[in-house]
Amino acid sequence: MTATGDGQGRSYQYLLVEADGPVGIVRLNRPKVLNALCRALIEELADALGAFDRDPAIRCMVLTGNERAFAAGADIAEMAGKGLAEVTGDDLLGAWQRLWRIRKPVVAAVQGYCLGGGFELAMGCDLIVAGESAQFGQPEIKIGVIPGAGGTQRLTRVAGKYKAMEAVLTGRMIPAREAEAWGLVTKVVPDEQCLPEALRLARTIAGMPPLAVQMAKAAVLQAYETPLGAGLEFERRLFYSLFATEDQKEGMQAFLEKRSPQWKGR
Ligand code: HXC
Repeated sequence: MTATGDGQGRSYQYLLVEADGPVGIVRLNRPKVLNALCRALIEELADALGAFDRDPAIRCMVLTGNERAFAAGADIAEMAGKGLAEVTGDDLLGAWQRLWRIRKPVVAAVQGYCLGGGFELAMGCDLIVAGESAQFGQPEIKIGVIPGAGGTQRLTRVAGKYKAMEAVLTGRMIPAREAEAWGLVTKVVPDEQCLPEALRLARTIAGMPPLAVQMAKAAVLQAYETPLGAGLEFERRLFYSLFATEDQKEGMQAFLEKRSPQWKGR
């Protein structure tokens, strides 16, 4: 992958951004501090993913770090001196909300440390491919705080109360294979296969009809938001709405005619 700090027509201080056909690739790029997630980095990330989300040529995204770290958490140096009035007044984590509004799927490719806000960022992605070196964890308790960008909620929903309590209350690192057993990752692969496998998955998703992909993502995420009955109703409405698209006609007709479908995104 050839990477540049100049993706989507603008340059980033903390990211390398490029498009590989229909796949937008964002690499966190603060290697000296293990990709610690300072506020400016999160704002850049929301800008970069948002630009890909709006770009009709992009169908799926991959978010990655480097071999040593996906991200070792929010930037402790940036937070250390702040008081309550500052973090609430400045809404320290406000930019994170923009990340959760991305409509196209994002595949996280994780090697090395994936801690604190880094873990929360990965859990906010839609698929997680972990290299064998990946270490997940919520170590905030060790520095006097708790997860603040979804860790107590998303981890508990995926792994259940007892696993989440252990992770959040002890801060222990969870190796890739254990995270897989907890249901926290899509798959674990050898480290050198991590990014290639994430790209392979992203290309497969990018080959699917785009409106159905976005609705599928929205429907799965709804399972986190609502009781089952409301989620089933939401899913059924989205399913019906896809019958207003040309891609539904094309997809079903192509199956019946035993040929490959041509997606129009309409
Ligand atoms: C700022 C960080 C950092 C972080 C590492 N660094 N993590 N800087 N914020 N979260 C910096 C170190 O200070 C060091 O800088 C350099 O990166 C390399 O780290 P080392 O500690 O020297 O590496 P190593 O000994 O290999 O230890 C790796 C580590 C450790 C186990 C991951 O760095 C660590 O425990 N980091 C903090 C993890 C953490 O607590 N994360 C949660 C943050 S709170 P120098 O300049 O000394 O070389 C959080 C809240 C989320 O995420 C709330 C919502 C977003």
